[in-house]
Amino acid sequence: MTKAEQLDKIKADIIADRVCPELAAGATQLVYSDGSAEAELVFIGEAPGKNEDEQGLPFVGAAGKFLDELLAGIGLHRKDVYITNIVKYRPPDNRDPLPDEKAEFLPYLKTQLEVIRPKLVVLLGRHSMECFLPGLQISKAHGQPKRLRGWVYLPLFHPAAALYNGGMRTVITSDFARIPQILAQITQKPKESLELDEAQPALQKSPSRPSATQRTIFDNLA
Ligand code: URA
Repeated sequence: MTKAEQLDKIKADIIADRVCPELAAGATQLVYSDGSAEAELVFIGEAPGKNEDEQGLPFVGAAGKFLDELLAGIGLHRKDVYITNIVKYRPPDNRDPLPDEKAEFLPYLKTQLEVIRPKLVVLLGRHSMECFLPGLQISKAHGQPKRLRGWVYLPLFHPAAALYNGGMRTVITSDFARIPQILAQITQKPKESLELDEAQPALQKSPSRPSATQRTIFDNLA
């Protein structure tokens, strides 16, 4: 099976497994992903909003337009990357996704990542960050890549939060501008399975010392 076919299968599984039936009942449709199964860059948001629910694609509303601008700023288009959310049905009234809802969708998201095996996973906002890098604060962790079990993550402010906040907009724009350099500096290491429950202890210490170049860019790496 190609990567695209494997990703389609995960989408079908979400429906067949009746993940979050209450959210599904209130939503127009499942909002699965956009972009390329072959991408080296994956963006993970929180949950679909009104526009996404209507169109069936992630990040197509105001925050999505801003994400498109940020991508254009580094010479990329959404077809060059892979975009998805943790929770794949719109929560009622755009409320925050609940911990149980995130937990129900997480195994499917992990499988998406295992299929794509991107170089860099960009975590958009606190909800997304907490799923992969628990215990960090987005206000401190944003813009700093972290390597964990062979995966490299970059937490960023959520584009919706930064949209109408001049200060945050400047910060997310300059964090985003570092993505090409970060990608260029990632030396691929074998990725271990995404056992998220083990992420916390693994954050504390890693036996291998990063090289001098890596130390400068991965300044917070264990
Ligand atoms: N915000 C998100 O987190 N995801 C979307 O798809 C749209 C807005």
